[in-house]
Amino acid sequence: MKFVRFIMKNAALASVPKHIDHFSKFSPSPLSMKQFLDFGSINACEKTSFVFLRQELPVRLSNIMKEINLLPDKLLTTPSVQTVQSWYIQSLMEILEFLDKNPDDYKVLGEFVDALVTIRNRHNDVVPTMAEGIIEYKEVFPQDLMTNQNIQYFLDRFYMSRISIRMLINQHTLIFDGTLNPVHPNTIGSIDPHCQVGDVVQDAFNSAKMLCEQYYLRSPDLILQEIFKEKKNYPISIEYVPSHLYHMLFELFKNAMRATIETHDDSNNLPPIKVMVSLGDEDMSIKVSDKGGGVPFRRIENLFSYMYSTAPAPHIGERTRPPLAGFGYGLPISRLYAKYFQGDLQLYSMEGHGTDAVIYLKALSTDSIERLPVYNKTALKNYKVSQEADDWCIPSKEPLDLSIYKMPNNRKV
Ligand SMILES: Nc1ncnc2c1ncn2[C@@H]1O[C@H](COP(=O)(O)OP(=O)(O)O)[C@@H](O)[C@H]1O
Ligand SMILES: [Mg+2]
Repeated sequence: MKFVRFIMKNAALASVPKHIDHFSKFSPSPLSMKQFLDFGSINACEKTSFVFLRQELPVRLSNIMKEINLLPDKLLTTPSVQTVQSWYIQSLMEILEFLDKNPDDYKVLGEFVDALVTIRNRHNDVVPTMAEGIIEYKEVFPQDLMTNQNIQYFLDRFYMSRISIRMLINQHTLIFDGTLNPVHPNTIGSIDPHCQVGDVVQDAFNSAKMLCEQYYLRSPDLILQEIFKEKKNYPISIEYVPSHLYHMLFELFKNAMRATIETHDDSNNLPPIKVMVSLGDEDMSIKVSDKGGGVPFRRIENLFSYMYSTAPAPHIGERTRPPLAGFGYGLPISRLYAKYFQGDLQLYSMEGHGTDAVIYLKALSTDSIERLPVYNKTALKNYKVSQEADDWCIPSKEPLDLSIYKMPNNRKV
């Protein structure tokens, strides 16, 4: 019996590339926040959701699995990336088993929820495991600009795909596991139709403050201001995933607090962190301002780089950096959360003074549409571009001897 199972498992594994080829030919279907909400309330139908997900999840998984295969060989073959890849294969196979099952059978629907929970748990550590892969790769191979760009391009898409897959899984499992969320009974899956932005700001600030006080024994205060056109818009609320918003704000606060304390080391007064929340017709923006000395303009883009941020490599379990800072993934992943529903996250810094970090989100749930990577010719091209010569002059490091360029006085120029 064991032998038969072994043969069958191997046969299934052998057919994986065929399935990936098949499902990656479909484009993922982005959903809007409004669709997520409608789907989870008025039209909540487990059967429809099941039928949608057993096709959509393999499509999203296969699209990104195609891109994993395009990574430089030396990275793809690291033990960590191999582990991540095996999780994706396993999860894809588990969902495919539901393709020929009967959607009218309650038992099947129950098994599907269980399968999704297993898959979600399996993928919990994808981000740190992938980060380890990058570190392993960086330790052995010299970095070149081209590979760095490739890896940045890939990881942004890979983590965005992961955010979206988890969103789909969370919505289905939370809505159809038959229980109410005891803390937030009005949420629809992970979405709060009246997510009060000021409350999330306050929550994220308090958590960061606790960490900060544990480490530095003090912390800056918060000044929160909300700006809106009409009184009825107060307090500002949007239809959004509070856990995503919390994640972004928590990361921004940890950074702002660390910068504030480290630049005002010998002062008794810490300048407060100011947060402005503003609701317009199109955007809901949140600005987090600190007086933590800022970052040189040249470094800003690097702060969002996965390759740059992980150096120097903090070994897992080793406390080389204060707990307010992590693997250096705080900013890039937060920006992905913002971009996921068509928003953005930008840093405006003035070196010597401080930093403004702005989160832009869509004010309307009809504009908040999932931003998803799709595997196609353009994506393929992005992995294949070869390094070309720079079309801007590279300044010489040596001072030029201008005397040799002296022109004769009488020469017309
Ligand atoms: N508000 C800020 N003021 C000064 N430096 C900042 C600020 N935010 C981020 N940085 C710099 O950007 C780096 C990367 O931030 P992040 O992505 O959150 O990773 P981490 O905090 O784990 O290092 C920080 O280490 C810090 O040097
Ligand atoms: Mg950080």
